[in-house]
This record gives sequence, structure tokens and C-alpha cells, in this order.
Amino acid sequence: KVISREDLKKRVGYKAVDDYVHSGMVVGLGTGSTAYYAIERLGQKLREGELHNVVGIPTSTKTELQSKSLNIPLTTLDTHPVVEVAIDGADEVDEKLNLVKGRGGSLLREKLIETEAKKLVIIVDDSKLVQNLGMTGAVPVEVIPFCWKHTMRRLLQLESLAECNVSATIRSEKDSIYVTDNNNYIVDLFVERPIPDISLAGRQISDVVGVVEHGIFLNMADVCLVSGTEGIRVIEK
Ligand code: A5P
Repeated sequence: KVISREDLKKRVGYKAVDDYVHSGMVVGLGTGSTAYYAIERLGQKLREGELHNVVGIPTSTKTELQSKSLNIPLTTLDTHPVVEVAIDGADEVDEKLNLVKGRGGSLLREKLIETEAKKLVIIVDDSKLVQNLGMTGAVPVEVIPFCWKHTMRRLLQLESLAECNVSATIRSEKDSIYVTDNNNYIVDLFVERPIPDISLAGRQISDVVGVVEHGIFLNMADVCLVSGTEGIRVIEK
């Protein structure tokens, strides 16, 4: 029987909750079509009494809505600064478990919350594994709306991206500019050649005035569950 991509996502989402979430924990709740299933499973286990006393910290308004619909108790970093575990998807994962995130638009809250996680569990299907970050799609950068064109130009001038034939677009939705949960915009950077020093690129992107955060997540993930037709592979740091 062929397993659909949706099934791969569901399996890995469920497994992350089964293996890493225990009663009494504060849990960072990721965003996206894979994290969706982890949240679904958490709701199920709380409802059935298999887990109790778990509180979630949602990384987007979308996740907040899903969690509320499942009666998952929620909190924020303001009241619960210690996050035992966070579970989230990713757009790309390299062999060192560095990530590109934010193609779904939620990178800022994800990074804010997942930076505090004692254990960050990344859940992906095997199409997300890459050799070089940033080559399968955008490297998203959240920017303030004020003079975003100028900020975008500055990003295109970064030395660390000079050899990558970089281009940029402002993310749009229908006919208007996409607005994040934080009322910012997203500049999507596209590179045609691998970024020679991803950590330098991350720092230089952050240093551009007008940039709020970017979707390069380095040294954050502790474990990655990779869902494939053969089953789920666990890659640990
Ligand atoms: C949200 O902004 C992203 O960082 C997601 O975590 C990422 O896009 C993965 O989503 P999927 O599981 O839907 O691919």
C-alpha cells in the first residue's frame, strides 16, 4: 500500500507526542501541516486522560486556534519561561540538524519560543532533508513594513550572499502583501548557489536594520524525526 505524504506527517506528528511529551510539561507547539498532527495527538491524549497537566505555548495564531478547539490549556513565555519540549516542523533540515523555517510565515514566534526549549523536536517527512540549506525554496526574513523595499535592497547587498546569485520577493497573499502574526512583512530570499557560510549569512541578515528575524535556525534542534515509507528515523544531535 502506498503511504501518502499526509500519512507520513501524521505518523511523525503522533510519534513526537507519544515519545517526548509527558504529564506536567510545558510544551512549545509548532506551526504547519506536520505540527498540526502533533497538536491533534496532544489534544486527543489530554481528552482521553493519557496525559494531564500539560500546558502549550503556541507559535502562531493558527496553532493557538487549533489548540483552543481541542481544549489544550495554553500559556505564554511571559508566564512560563521554561519550556520542557517544543515540537515543530521545518522546511529544510541539514545533516547537522540546522534548519530553514518560516515558509509558513511563523518564524519569529517559533524562534522566540523554541530558543527556550530544553529539547526541540523537529518532525519532517523525508523530502525535507537537504545537503545545503536554502536551495529548495525561500529563506524567509521577517521585516518591519516601514521602508521594506529599502530593507530588501540591503539584504540583496549582503556580502555573505554575494556569490549565491540572490534574489528577493516580498511575500504576498492573494493580491496584497502577506502580514505576519506580528504585523510585519516577509522578504523571501532565493539563492541559486549554496550559501558558503550559513552562520555568517544569518548574522548579517540579522544586522540589517529593519529585519526582525530570519528563518535560519542554527544549533537549535536536538532531535529530528524523519518520516519515510520505511518508518520513522530518529536523528539525534
Ligand atoms: C512555519 O512558519 C514554518 O516554519 C513551518 O514550521 C514549516 O513551514 C514546516 O511546515 P510544514 O510541516 O507544513 O511543511
